[in-house]
Amino acid sequence: MNKTFRQDLVVRPRRIRTDDWTRRMVAENRLSVDDFIWPVFLQEDNGTTDVPSMPGVKRYGPDCLIDAIADAVELGIPAIALFPYNNPATKTEDCREAYNPDNLICQATRSIRKHYQEIALIGDVALDPYNSLGHDGIVKDGVILNDESVEILCRQALVQAEAGCDYIGPSDMMDGRIGAIRDTLDDAGYTYTKIMSYSAKYASGFYGPFRDAVGAKGALKGDKKTYQMDPANSEEALRLVENDLQQGADMVMVKPGIAYLDIIQRIKDTFGVPTMAYQVSGEYAMIKAASANGWLDHDAVMMESLMAFKRAGTDAVLTYFALDAARLLK
Ligand code: PBG
Repeated sequence: MNKTFRQDLVVRPRRIRTDDWTRRMVAENRLSVDDFIWPVFLQEDNGTTDVPSMPGVKRYGPDCLIDAIADAVELGIPAIALFPYNNPATKTEDCREAYNPDNLICQATRSIRKHYQEIALIGDVALDPYNSLGHDGIVKDGVILNDESVEILCRQALVQAEAGCDYIGPSDMMDGRIGAIRDTLDDAGYTYTKIMSYSAKYASGFYGPFRDAVGAKGALKGDKKTYQMDPANSEEALRLVENDLQQGADMVMVKPGIAYLDIIQRIKDTFGVPTMAYQVSGEYAMIKAASANGWLDHDAVMMESLMAFKRAGTDAVLTYFALDAARLLK
């Protein structure tokens, strides 16, 4: 028996989906190049090196960096985030390379700034690329020391600000580092150097390919659960954000991205502050691997994943897709 079609109850929601022009007019969110921050890996040696677990991503040597950035500048990408791959010889337990004014991030910052003024530079502040033990803080007898690490992080932030970084991006998750870095910058006269805090950074399996990219995988013993957040928690993320804002963070970040959209939305709804997200290496690798197998449509999934960040309330996304997505939008 045919069911009766309840004409009286149907409002025809499909009417606004029938044609492209209407869909365009009623779209609630839109992506633009201003939404993308491009993470860039640096290496000491000239030339480039492919990162095998991140197809399409390279580390750039000093001789190739300026050309690589040219594309980003031309596309109008507003900011890049710099991450160093240090040769094992520069990694020590006291992480002193982190505050060497001639380290990879400082050199790259000065050299990019000389060529381009129209793109913001974000220096990553954390000790893992400099630490022979692979952790984001100083390790003593297997324990990650908080306040001793914060002291080094402040020195690291200062050399980056001196080199010309516009933003300091602390990704280390030590307690109290935002306020300490803010004081250090202010005392040195860097009042307008901004802090983009990795406020809610989870102890995630999705960082695997990044640790290949910065060469931090081999060294790391154990996990980062004593400083990065438990994926089970969300109230805690709100407390961390509130705390970072009180300490002077200009922007906060959630990391990883797609699996944590609920956190992004809660932060945005609660605080209404500039809220960034990091679509991390593992998220990128999944999309690359599946599309290389013909299992997913690369461009469709890339844009859909980026749109999801917008819908959740993100202001800008750190994404390895930044250049591809910007090109597609053009
Ligand atoms: C560490 C750091 C990590 C990432 C950025 N900074 C990895 C980690 O915490 O081990 C991950 C980024 C990515 O996976 O793309 N300071």
